[in-house]
Amino acid sequence: TARIGVMTSGGDAQGMNAAVRAIVRAGIHEEAEVFAIKEGWQGAIAGGDNITQLSWSDVSGILPKGGTVIGTARSMEFKTREGQLTAVENLVGRGIDRLIVIGGDGSLTGSRALCLAWPEYIAELREAGRITVEQAAAHPRLRIAGLVGSIDNDMVGTDMTIGTDSAMHRITEAIDAISSTAESHRRTFIVEVMGRSCGYLALMTAIAGGADYTFLPESPPRPGWEDRMVDVLQRGRDAGRRDSIIVVAEGAADREGVRITAERIQAELRERTGEEARITILGHVQRGGTPSAYDRWMATACGVEAVRQVLLADDDTEPVLVGVHRDEVIAVPLLKAVEDTHHIATLIAEGDYGAAVRARGAGFTQ
Ligand code: F6P
Repeated sequence: TARIGVMTSGGDAQGMNAAVRAIVRAGIHEEAEVFAIKEGWQGAIAGGDNITQLSWSDVSGILPKGGTVIGTARSMEFKTREGQLTAVENLVGRGIDRLIVIGGDGSLTGSRALCLAWPEYIAELREAGRITVEQAAAHPRLRIAGLVGSIDNDMVGTDMTIGTDSAMHRITEAIDAISSTAESHRRTFIVEVMGRSCGYLALMTAIAGGADYTFLPESPPRPGWEDRMVDVLQRGRDAGRRDSIIVVAEGAADREGVRITAERIQAELRERTGEEARITILGHVQRGGTPSAYDRWMATACGVEAVRQVLLADDDTEPVLVGVHRDEVIAVPLLKAVEDTHHIATLIAEGDYGAAVRARGAGFTQ
């Protein structure tokens, strides 16, 4: 019987539970045994009760829940060689050599690295007597599939990442709520949204929430942006608009690389207009709460495909990333997705913003 491990790793995201549920049930349907590896790679290293077999009914009722019921962590220990060796030892000890990781860019990069080092680790563990010769022979390779769980939508290889749609709903609701109080007082609000170095959440919710202005990491404003911003807000007021909403991505910066924070925008407005704009930093509200219908559907469909991928994989199969493209489930090489994602970060760091945006678009169609 094939044994599949499933873990959620890195920051949580709405829809991770839908993926776990689909993986457990699709695995059982295919006559495999599915094990939860709790608290991400941290649980793989700790072993013991952190690696537990899940039954069909163990995942009942988790579909509408936010977060991840099997826990997640950002593991520092997994970055060390000994941490990885211990994780391999524990997985092999439980007969697990197929793994589905639901996590962000960092978790998937680390998982892929472990996958490549697996044969070397198996040899080392066998020589050290930490696993038996039979165990080493039975688990020559790790078959891996990744699902991208992150509200940031910052990964190449999938049009959407699990959690992004739910986060957009949460942010849009917040902007609607803020707009009504802003209108009453004829105020300006600056709303900071998450996303690390990716401006997807900011751009989409600025449009969905009817904001006046937005700041995105991929599109740092030209010098003089302070006056242009004031001008745009003023024109809105002149046209009868009572509220002004500015959405700023947490990773936004100017062309010198100096961060454009909500406080900085507030200070610029104060200096130019005398208005004391209010700041709302949405924070982890964006990552919590019930997943949207889209996230539940997408995570379920990708979870089923990930099971199919790890069961089909042979010793030479490259690890895959399972995602969606134009509402169809796809599997692409994890290596390329990870490399292309890092390439975009480099382009942004080097100030080549146009190339970064084009690369992000091209990534979706690979
Ligand atoms: O990657 C998801 C994310 O929510 C980012 O948008 C944000 O910058 C970060 O995680 C926050 O991390 P933490 O939950 O560790 O505070």
